[in-house]
Amino acid sequence: MTGKGGKRPSAPVPKKSEDEVTYPSYLALEELLLLQRPRSTPEHPDELLFIIVHQASELWFKLILHELNALIALIEARDTLGALTSVRRVNALVRIVTGQLSALETLPPQRFAQFRGYLGTSSGSQSVQFRAIEAMSGMRDAHFLQVLKQHGEIAPLVKKALARPTLQQLYDDLLDAEGVTLEQVYSEQNQKPLQMLAEGLLEYEQGFAMWRFLHVQLVERIIGPLTSGTGGTLGSKYLQQTINQRFFPKLWAVRSKFFKG
Ligand code: HEM
Repeated sequence: MTGKGGKRPSAPVPKKSEDEVTYPSYLALEELLLLQRPRSTPEHPDELLFIIVHQASELWFKLILHELNALIALIEARDTLGALTSVRRVNALVRIVTGQLSALETLPPQRFAQFRGYLGTSSGSQSVQFRAIEAMSGMRDAHFLQVLKQHGEIAPLVKKALARPTLQQLYDDLLDAEGVTLEQVYSEQNQKPLQMLAEGLLEYEQGFAMWRFLHVQLVERIIGPLTSGTGGTLGSKYLQQTINQRFFPKLWAVRSKFFKG
């Protein structure tokens, strides 16, 4: 209240202490927003889109790795319901990172060609986090191990993931501990939680395959089917071969047991 002719009391100004948490400080926004550094000169108007979709994807990869670690710990602790909740989150994250590719579908080939040269030999195939996700999920085939060595020493994050049992192995161990076979999981009513976990893992695999598929589509849409990648592969021809890789061969195979011939 202000008295007649009196001065309106000013709202108390909160004292800012050095270590007060604010939205920008909590999120380290000052640093974060300085990390997008287009290389083209003069700056190409589409390079920021290209950088942000990649950077955001790497952030989601970071979270996916974090949540995969949580999922693994829950399976190891034989907490089936906890693992089920956890795999649902992982699947939501994979859907988000896949959805982001659509932003780059708005990048026409001739415009990408205008700044592609500035990328040098940098390529998504050098993404350590992507390789760690693949390794953690279960890839161990000779071709994968060869790809890992392509850029010199295998990164510590990937080495760590390779040293752990695959998700398929962990699921198998869970079944052993529960004293059931995969076929029983799919045929016995009282095994529903284990079946739902298997389906959640399968959904994860499908979600990941969807990323691979939409990424190849994007690559062909922008650079065409015959252009080599900046990372030195045959481009979309190489990527096509990665689509059918399986993390959980047994989860796919068990289905055949319910059908004759
Ligand atoms: C303009 C859009 C894009 C183009 C033209 C493109 C092109 C390519 C090509 C040609 C490859 C094969 C490796 C090479 O020789 O370079 C590749 C691999 C890869 N890219 Fe992209 N990419 C695009 C967007 C993205 C985005 C947004 C991500 C998200 C992080 C990404 C992540 C990857 C990964 C992880 C690989 C390795 C895949 C594997 O080896 O299975 N790419 N990309």
